[in-house]
Amino acid sequence: MSRKRILSGMRPSGKLHLGNFFGALDSWVKLQDDYDCFFFAADWHALTSEYENTGIIKECIKDMFLDWLSAGMDPQKSTFFIQSNILEHAELHVLLSMITPLSWLERNPTYKEQQQELTNRDISTYGFLGYPVLQAADIIIYKAHKVPVGVDQLPHLELTREIARRFNFLYEEIFPIPEPILTEVPKLLGIDGRKMSKAYNNAIYLADPPEMIKEKTDQMFTDPQRARRTDPGDPEICNVFSFHKILSPTEVVDEIAHGCRSAGIGCVECKKRLISRIITFLAPFQRKREYFLDHFKEVEEIIETGTIKARSIARETMNEVREAIKI
Ligand code: TRP
Ligand code: SF4
Repeated sequence: MSRKRILSGMRPSGKLHLGNFFGALDSWVKLQDDYDCFFFAADWHALTSEYENTGIIKECIKDMFLDWLSAGMDPQKSTFFIQSNILEHAELHVLLSMITPLSWLERNPTYKEQQQELTNRDISTYGFLGYPVLQAADIIIYKAHKVPVGVDQLPHLELTREIARRFNFLYEEIFPIPEPILTEVPKLLGIDGRKMSKAYNNAIYLADPPEMIKEKTDQMFTDPQRARRTDPGDPEICNVFSFHKILSPTEVVDEIAHGCRSAGIGCVECKKRLISRIITFLAPFQRKREYFLDHFKEVEEIIETGTIKARSIARETMNEVREAIKI
């Protein structure tokens, strides 16, 4: 039996951080064993916010693929490509835009939120409103069955489902209705205790060298009640501890929790141990990244092979679509 198809994408926004890793990438890596996986860089989607600053996008794509491959995304198992190399996405986007009611887009919660949040940019564009229509095209052009996404993307996936149903109803049953696979809620906050994000300048990147990891970890907030070394602390409200929970073995986590509560371990020592954990955890990743950086040709070939495969599927779908629409 052929395996079900998965598709997901990320907007290329540069190097990935630990939040991206534990929020998405590690679950993608695992999915590769059970599904026929397609993963792509959504560079047209990046344009919705970066249209005035397009010079950085290519470099961001490069960094993103380096991080993916180093984190265990495997070209033997999955197909990798760049959205803008498959022009068929744009054709399907136009066709879907004809059948998507404006009201569906205007009531999209992500649209409303981002309009309010991204106040430093003017995103009252036609392209930004149509963001989910392009995303629907990305997904259904490969007849994907499942889409691994974070909670924030669920409204977009719901729109994809509605658009696919509407197409099937109006023309022909071409598209499976894709289902979300909810990737884990990020368990790691940034070094300042807010959501880990490039925009907040509080992230630990997968490619950060050891000195940088030390510097950032040293800045991390701990239990604010623990002013002196002799004060007992509460690990459950400490960000350093949530990193330990993810990166350290259970015995160490238990020992730290106990040590913190009894003032047996100081924050300096606790952080020191975390620093060495993060460095050890990232070392194999960083070795692979060095390798791919030195052999970037291999990365380009992986993308080229993926593009050819993705394109041929997208073309087949578009033949069916044109026939169904009679155009
Ligand atoms: N909107 C997604 C994000 O910002 C990126 C994306 C574009 C995507 N097209 C997609 C994700 C198709 C899944 C499937 O993260
Ligand atoms: Fe946080 Fe560790 Fe300090 Fe406890 S000892 S407050 S867990 S840094």
